[in-house]
Amino acid sequence: MTNFGILGCGRIGQVHAKSLSRLPQAKLVTVADALPEAASALARQYGAKIQAAEEIVTASDIDAVIVATPTTLHYDQIHALADAGKAIFCEKPIDLSSERAGECMARVQAKGVPFLTAFNRRFDPQFALVQAQIEAGVIGDPEIVIITSRDPSPPPVAYIKQSGGLFRDMMIHDFDMARFLLGEDIVELHATGSCLVDPAIGAAGDIDTASVTMKTASGKICQINNSRRATYGYDQRIEVHGSKGMLQAANHLENLVTKADASGFATAPNKHFFLERYETAYLAEMESFVTALKKGTTPNPGIEDGVKAQRLADAAAKSLETRSVVIL
Ligand SMILES: NC(=O)c1ccc[n+]([C@@H]2O[C@H](COP(=O)([O-])OP(=O)(O)OC[C@H]3O[C@@H](n4cnc5c(N)ncnc54)[C@H](O)[C@@H]3O)[C@@H](O)[C@H]2O)c1
Repeated sequence: MTNFGILGCGRIGQVHAKSLSRLPQAKLVTVADALPEAASALARQYGAKIQAAEEIVTASDIDAVIVATPTTLHYDQIHALADAGKAIFCEKPIDLSSERAGECMARVQAKGVPFLTAFNRRFDPQFALVQAQIEAGVIGDPEIVIITSRDPSPPPVAYIKQSGGLFRDMMIHDFDMARFLLGEDIVELHATGSCLVDPAIGAAGDIDTASVTMKTASGKICQINNSRRATYGYDQRIEVHGSKGMLQAANHLENLVTKADASGFATAPNKHFFLERYETAYLAEMESFVTALKKGTTPNPGIEDGVKAQRLADAAAKSLETRSVVIL
């Protein structure tokens, strides 16, 4: 049995608490949140105790800790948890600065604690199957990867202001997916972006529409497109073109009923957003972490994957700013 603590009982902390409750090898023992009502709601729901974050970090009855606090807190919490010898499940991004994320990596590696960067999309059954089929050679050599990732609607501008920008907050998942599918590091990147959805996002210094093109050393190409708006729901699609064929992973719909009449065929809208779309992935992600701890294997994706995705986000921000290709 692995005893867990959760730091941060907000949107994603609640998702992880639910996943733990479904896994027989894991037990949520304790939770912390700066808002007492957030901590008590989760503690009550899952029969956990409430402690200060600092107490959980050093608690002798806790084996693993989920870091689900706002990103600005991850750096200190990762350092403290690594020093205390805890296994760490950390939400993305590790930090808004890739240098600071690199410092987290150095501490985690020096202390030798298990660490999973929570790139949940790797655990989506469809995307995982695409990756497995690429690896099995089903489409020959992959040549072009196209990742479409569009949110149903933009977050509040207050969130945008502290998010680190679209590349570090949103496209970070797609950078990791690109690395996951390409199986090679990126050596060249060009980004472009606009503010087409909400002028207030532009006034806050960010973009809401973006496209990034990247290349690996062997010449494989990946194109990512993001929007903070999709009128038909959360748009999450992947296409991989290879020397012997193509793989496509389509959107998840609210239901699979198709209606047909004289105007044509109509399907249900896409699942609304990440909580619904990736529900299965969140559970599989936690299960993989718990299994790795039980077997003593290295959790995957690790902290180096978090740092590498962050470096791509930094490169995209630089490319947008300088209107030039960035060589990595
Ligand atoms: N992988 C994903 O799909 C995904 C989705 C959403 C968020 N995230 C990431 O998860 C993290 C949290 O995001 P969220 O959307 O759940 O935010 P949130 O604001 O809903 O929740 C964060 C919680 O942390 C609490 N908190 C603040 N300071 C604290 C402290 N010192 N100690 C303990 N708790 C504290 C807040 O009160 C809040 O309840 C972010 O890093 C975000 O990028 C990842």
